[in-house]
Amino acid sequence: MMNYAWKPDSHKNMFNIPEWTYDEMKQTGVDYSGIEQVQRYDDMHQKFRDYEKNSDAIIKILDLDSNSTVIDMGAGTGAFTLYAAKHCKKVYAVDISLAMLNLCRIKCDRIGLSNISYCHSGFLTYDHEADPADAMVSIASLHHLPDFWKLVGLTRAAEMLKAGGRFFLFDIVFPSAADDMEGKLNAWVRSITEQSGPELAAEAKIHIREEYSTYDWVMEGLLERAGFKIESAEYSEGFQATYVCSGR
Ligand SMILES: C[S@@+](CC[C@H](N)C(=O)[O-])C[C@H]1O[C@@H](n2cnc3c(N)ncnc32)[C@H](O)[C@@H]1O
Repeated sequence: MMNYAWKPDSHKNMFNIPEWTYDEMKQTGVDYSGIEQVQRYDDMHQKFRDYEKNSDAIIKILDLDSNSTVIDMGAGTGAFTLYAAKHCKKVYAVDISLAMLNLCRIKCDRIGLSNISYCHSGFLTYDHEADPADAMVSIASLHHLPDFWKLVGLTRAAEMLKAGGRFFLFDIVFPSAADDMEGKLNAWVRSITEQSGPELAAEAKIHIREEYSTYDWVMEGLLERAGFKIESAEYSEGFQATYVCSGR
């Protein structure tokens, strides 16, 4: 099914990267580099997420229309890209995992979408060479970077947007009221096991242990220091955080 002869439209910019730069192309935590994991990810997520409904809500919040260009940072298997491409002029699907991008492309090709650029890079390495975009969407991807590098990535993101451009960020973010954090984390894993099964719960444990989800006050500070104005910040059950921001 996967075609490894396929080449994305652009690769990470390999030039002028200092040796001390964080290697965002390496897998952190849950491994999304292989065909099987990526297909399993998509099958599992489609069971508990409604990609279309969630994407339509984001498109509405960001006021995207047929003239809009949008960057999907950490596009994965196209949960947002596929629906955004139906509504917008152009989507840049950016991801460090070639396997993720490849499945995204297969799904979008299948329904004849041809207004997507597939870019094999990430927050730290993607060069947006086109005109500044109307919006960036990033769903459950930023936590792959440690906090120092989150700010670098967010600052670069702000620079890719046109004046007044919008940024929709969803991620797992921990509450600053950290009393009984152990109990909260145990309850989180338990509720995922009950609602979505042991496979997703295993990923949640890897997430807590090996990925870089941060605190709510850190995330808000990072967004502001990157130059974003936070229009809304919503925290809901399961450590889910949604930020709608406007750019510089
Ligand atoms: C949990 S998945 C989310 C995928 C998709 N946004 C979704 O809603 O299903 C996280 C994605 O972030 C990508 N990723 C990891 N590090 C990244 C980085 N530094 N920049 C951009 N994407 C990254 C992974 O390859 C993976 O596809």
